[in-house]
Amino acid sequence: MALRPIITAPDPRLKLKSAAVDRFDGEIERLIDDMFETMYAAPGIGLAAIQLGIPKRLLVVDLARQDEPPAPRVFINPERLWVSDTLATYEEGCLSVPDHYADVQRPAQVVVRYRDRAGSACEETMDGMLATCLQHEMDHLDGVLFVDHLSLAKRSLILRKMAKAKKLAGASSA
Ligand code: NI
Repeated sequence: MALRPIITAPDPRLKLKSAAVDRFDGEIERLIDDMFETMYAAPGIGLAAIQLGIPKRLLVVDLARQDEPPAPRVFINPERLWVSDTLATYEEGCLSVPDHYADVQRPAQVVVRYRDRAGSACEETMDGMLATCLQHEMDHLDGVLFVDHLSLAKRSLILRKMAKAKKLAGASSA
């Protein structure tokens, strides 16, 4: 297992549409392990492969609280089969948009079809945090960030701050 650097916005790779995983081989196994290690170290509760620069439809999630044992989940090629009309609002953050948080409204319930780590087809009805987290991570697979759900003014403010912070970090390390 290895820690890999997480890509932060603004970065054109975060806007890519990721491609389906078609081979469940050792390479995918290693990528999954690295994604968990990187997510736990960050720390974060969800990570999509594109956040490590790999445009594959693969994401990992662990919603266990600090006092609970780890609950790692892997979702490969996830698809939304159904979303509820009822919406839920959660304050979201993203490892690719560090230090920024905002309320985002999404369907409260979703039915998702995906393949698990072994490649088996699964279907699951989700609500609460898991529904929100999955929708946030699935957005990444289509090049969408949580800030894209905000008003233009809020989004521009966050992205301007991100670009400035990046420039400053680049200048100090040069
Ligand atoms: Ni994210």
